[in-house]
Amino acid sequence: MKKRVVIAAAAVLGLAVCGFADEAIPLEATGPGRMRTGWGTAQAGKSIGGLDLRVGGTTYARGVGTHAPSRHRIAARGNALAFSARVGVDDETHGRGSVVFRVIADGKVVAEVAAKGGEGAQPIAADLTGASTVILEVTDGGDDNYYDHADWCDAVFTFKDGTRPLRAAEMTRQLGILTPKDDGKPRLHAPARYGVRPGHPLLFKVPVTGVKPVQLAVSPLPKGVTFNAATRVLSGTVAKPGSYPLTITARNAKGRARQKMTLVVGETIALTPPMGWNSWNAFAGGVSDAKMRAAVEAFVRLGLDEHGYSYVNIDDFWQKNPENGRSDPTLAGPERNADGTIAPNARFPDMKALADFIHAHGLKAGLYSSPGPYTCGGCTGSWRHERPDADCYAAWGYDYLKYDWCSYGTVATGEGHERHCRPYRLMGECLRAQPRDIVFSLCQYGQDNVSAWGADVGGQSWRTTGDIFDTWPSVYGGIRAQAPLWSYVRPGAWNDADMLVLGRNVWAGGTDFDAGASRLTPNEQYTHMTMWCMFASPLMIGCDLTAIDDFTLALLTNDEVLAVDQDALGAAAARVAEDAAAGTEIWARPLADGTFALALFNADDEEQTVRVSFADLGLVGAWAVRDLWRQQDEGVFDAAYSVSVPGHATHLVKLTPQKGAGLAPGVRDIRR
Ligand code: GAL
Repeated sequence: MKKRVVIAAAAVLGLAVCGFADEAIPLEATGPGRMRTGWGTAQAGKSIGGLDLRVGGTTYARGVGTHAPSRHRIAARGNALAFSARVGVDDETHGRGSVVFRVIADGKVVAEVAAKGGEGAQPIAADLTGASTVILEVTDGGDDNYYDHADWCDAVFTFKDGTRPLRAAEMTRQLGILTPKDDGKPRLHAPARYGVRPGHPLLFKVPVTGVKPVQLAVSPLPKGVTFNAATRVLSGTVAKPGSYPLTITARNAKGRARQKMTLVVGETIALTPPMGWNSWNAFAGGVSDAKMRAAVEAFVRLGLDEHGYSYVNIDDFWQKNPENGRSDPTLAGPERNADGTIAPNARFPDMKALADFIHAHGLKAGLYSSPGPYTCGGCTGSWRHERPDADCYAAWGYDYLKYDWCSYGTVATGEGHERHCRPYRLMGECLRAQPRDIVFSLCQYGQDNVSAWGADVGGQSWRTTGDIFDTWPSVYGGIRAQAPLWSYVRPGAWNDADMLVLGRNVWAGGTDFDAGASRLTPNEQYTHMTMWCMFASPLMIGCDLTAIDDFTLALLTNDEVLAVDQDALGAAAARVAEDAAAGTEIWARPLADGTFALALFNADDEEQTVRVSFADLGLVGAWAVRDLWRQQDEGVFDAAYSVSVPGHATHLVKLTPQKGAGLAPGVRDIRR
């Protein structure tokens, strides 16, 4: 990529001064994942549809395909000299689509080419001398943007020798730790409502922070329930359905706190999104009983349970694996016992003992299977053993099942919707028949619009996308995928935007393992955590808890941010305003106490002001604004609120109505 040509004559003559040619920097090297697109994710060397770049019958090995409207910003800082490319509409549209390609230097259009589907690629070239910011833009050509698959082929920037465009993390201020340090006062973080089925065992560890020891009390205790103040655990069973209001009090050397929580004994469980940790991103196929126990101990040592995290879930690879078992004896052996029950692999000598260990820490235990014969990692699935498997999970004491489609496609029967929901309905019924609550987490990547029917087959949550991993295109794609799905969310029925990829994740997408430090910038990690809380997504931590850093821990344990995720109304955020040219988005969700959470997201690379007009959101009157990450009041605003947000970051606020403020007449929901 980098071409340095020593002026040979000078060298031969032994002259002191050597000259170097300028730097040729291909577009692919400028972070195509940052490119904003009207649809899909831009990738190096690929059309937006993921195929080879092909325009007018010619295939181009180099370049980036995008979709109008699209913008890609290059922070040149006066070091760029020129840009050249061949541009056109990709052949994958079969002659459809029309776009305009533009090169914009410091706000001025310096090159422009209009192109239509079916045409050959055209040259585009621009002098960029002295430009601070260069934008490659593609617009829809004056009609709509259907089929506007636009290719920048053989696209190359020329930079002065030894210089390059700034990288994403260098283009903007990066946020550090914002979560305030604990002041030691007791604070309770229980959800306002907690569900358990009648006659099923209750296990709830009261989340409380503050200097230890904290004395806790809970009253009145419903018949059948006991509270252990030493372990902070409410347990027992309640036979009679109904709502049981409890008051939790906490006292320590710094003060007192009190919180109300309603125990809702009824058919709906997971009244707020499940929060916990899952083994996949940290250990993938290397998980073991010992690693799970170490994770449980770290979970408690880090105090995640004090902030409301409660599940510790084993993902794939607790079962036997015939393929991997050939080279790894710990995965070998009969997949099932003589009576047909599932046989865990040698790394998990006693599944019941492991669940007991998790419960003994006041936490809940989860595991993983597939409706297919094999899981995605090739371990034994539940196909044709659904009921015995569910019976076994319950007998061992598990509280959560992630059920992953994987190989099910090879055995699926039925057509259309029935084909998709049948295996989940079957396992949903098997879990429902158990004498304990088992949260049913559907994992089929959003197929057949699962948000519309996941709850009908007994699910409490369902993955909405394929796997996300710790890159910006992946997380940003995950955010965009949630936009049409908010209306399906309610208590006990959650869109699962996938596990958190904050901190150090081992699994890095595809067959790529051991990614090292996060590939997300700090700002991107704020956006990830903020938006998952806005979506009311389950929050499953993915990093290795035994090696967590302070920044990640602070991201995961901000109680005011977590309270948005855990809000009792269970209303997911919708995107209520968007400025596509600027790359800013406002997401809003109503909260149970009559306030609103607002996320001001800057998808652009550089810092910019994000402005919210209350009238545009359907709000009237004055609103108190609180910054939830910093846990600070910002003041009262009566027509608009604006804030400067660094590139790829999100500012999260809570709006509290002042006297006379509320939704404008005729507006019933801020999300409309
Ligand atoms: C994927 C799933 C991941 C993980 C993995 C295990 O299909 O989406 O979250 O569970 O399988 O093999």
